[in-house]
Amino acid sequence: SKPAILIARAIFPDVLHRLEQYFEVESNQGDEIFSPEELIRRLQGKEGAIVTGSSRINASVLAACPQLKMVANMAVGYDNLDVPAMQAAGVLASNTPDVLTETTADFGWALMMATARRITEAEHFLRAGKWNKWHYDLMSGADIHGSTLGILGMGRIGQAIARRAQGFGMEVMYHNRSRLSTEQEAQANQARYVSKQALFEEADHIILVLPYSAASHHAVGAEELAMMKPTATLTNIARGGIVDDQALIAALRERRIAAAGLDVFENEPAFAPAFLKLDNVVLTPHIASASVKTRRAMANCAADNLIAGLLTGQAKNPLW
Ligand code: GLV
Ligand code: GLV
Repeated sequence: SKPAILIARAIFPDVLHRLEQYFEVESNQGDEIFSPEELIRRLQGKEGAIVTGSSRINASVLAACPQLKMVANMAVGYDNLDVPAMQAAGVLASNTPDVLTETTADFGWALMMATARRITEAEHFLRAGKWNKWHYDLMSGADIHGSTLGILGMGRIGQAIARRAQGFGMEVMYHNRSRLSTEQEAQANQARYVSKQALFEEADHIILVLPYSAASHHAVGAEELAMMKPTATLTNIARGGIVDDQALIAALRERRIAAAGLDVFENEPAFAPAFLKLDNVVLTPHIASASVKTRRAMANCAADNLIAGLLTGQAKNPLW
């Protein structure tokens, strides 16, 4: 008989049907968000699962589901997976890198531009019927072209963002746990490796593209925000928790930085309501990888990983 799997969230129907050729599938096309207890209940007897960030796979889940062999995360970030616990339990894991790199970089660029040029603030102004006359500095923002871009986290997505900077005549600086090779730096628009402090002090626009972990928790807090130029912008397409949202709200409210563009939040989707009171922030609901083509590619990538992982023991994008 076919191995049993759980698909923990709703998924494209054709991907579901593809998985049904290999597995006995329990799906969740109603897209209920499972509590930890419900997740454990649904995982009983399952050898594999496709999950997203809303499912935490930790030691208590693993202890309660001893037959589990593989979890395919439908995301590139995998802070919802307890890697040491999964390794200790001998459970395989995969993510969906590469397929979303360019789409996510596009969105980071769009969010940074919307933030610098006040696009959503201007639209709200127009929709509210406040556009009665031209004014010499109406909705004036900061230039992107010719400015200095600071990228914190220089993985595949960070490098894809750096490549885009070439068309805008920007200088690129980055900070990362490890430095790129000279050749990678050259391909990333001659990106210059700098200290975290130099990045926060010197960049005109900062974009966050690093993974979330205990080490990156509140990597951007009051101290880093205080280093930024008052004209600078901050864009986060990485994960909530990398930015201390309360410190950011205070900095935006007091205009200590110009603006922020946020696709991710602490405690999302229940983000801090104070953001809604601020004009100088662009807010989107964690959609950086959400192009039609890329979301399909991510679903198929997660499915391919689970099929290969459970059938051959070797996933396409194993996490270790
Ligand atoms: C989305 O946030 C992802 O990690 O793919
Ligand atoms: C994701 O693919 C990253 O490494 O930034």
